[in-house]
Amino acid sequence: MEDLIKRAAKDLAVAVNVAALTGAGISVESGIPPFRGKGGLWERLDPMEFAHINAFMRDPVKVWKALVREMKEIVDRAEPNDGHKGLAKLETRDKLKTIITQNIDGLHQAAGNTDVIEYHGTFAWQRCMDCGKKYETRKVDVSEIPPRCGCGGILRPDIVFFGEMIPAEAMWRSRQAASDCDLMLVVGTSAVVQPAAMIPIIAKENGAKIVEINPERTPLTVEVSDYLIMGGAGEVLNRIVAAMEKI
Ligand code: OAD
Repeated sequence: MEDLIKRAAKDLAVAVNVAALTGAGISVESGIPPFRGKGGLWERLDPMEFAHINAFMRDPVKVWKALVREMKEIVDRAEPNDGHKGLAKLETRDKLKTIITQNIDGLHQAAGNTDVIEYHGTFAWQRCMDCGKKYETRKVDVSEIPPRCGCGGILRPDIVFFGEMIPAEAMWRSRQAASDCDLMLVVGTSAVVQPAAMIPIIAKENGAKIVEINPERTPLTVEVSDYLIMGGAGEVLNRIVAAMEKI
């Protein structure tokens, strides 16, 4: 792995516009379970039954009880780990310009990154399904499910459920960031959910180097990524940042 760490450090040193695409894997070390693979959320819950907008509309109490309340408990207490902090350091060194994240946990912003595109929305806010008023998730009382707005409407997380559109601004801004970057770090995503999985392909088509960080291979590994550094995001990013300091 050491050779690949040095290679990534050199590639980052010469890059002028770096973007990152992140997925659930980068938050695993913060105690947030991923969706797929061992211990993944979708091993226990069928996403079509609990994470599809139709499922939420049909039975919000069921989805709140099985998924959203637990998500709130986990996300409320999660802190950025070395993976998030490593990406924040790359922004401080003026390398990393934009993070496109599929995560809804807000940990990139908590680590200090300032340009974060939340492709699947954010869990930081709940919004009323009737009047649209927003409430900070941390402050929402979940002693009664479903929590309700002052107007009586049911609150839903401000995330993208399956069956919903990606927010238009997130969509076009990430396309732009992918086209503009000369290196894209793809960290902790299984790259199987569209349209997010297209983002590294857009970057590649526009001439960017693609560097994947993941303990497992993904559908991008052979055809799209220039190389995969097989390991956890925290350790790998720590080592890359340390190696950059020696260049
Ligand atoms: P997944 O759960 O599909 O994939 C997590 C990836 O992280 C896998 O490839 C793991 O190998 C990798 N991984 C595990 N531990 C890691 C670590 N310590 N460091 C780095 N990588 C690690 O998560 P996503 O790709 O983010 O969408 O999933 C994409 C979307 O599917 C999510 O945004 C969510 C989900 O259904 C919606 O809810 C709309």
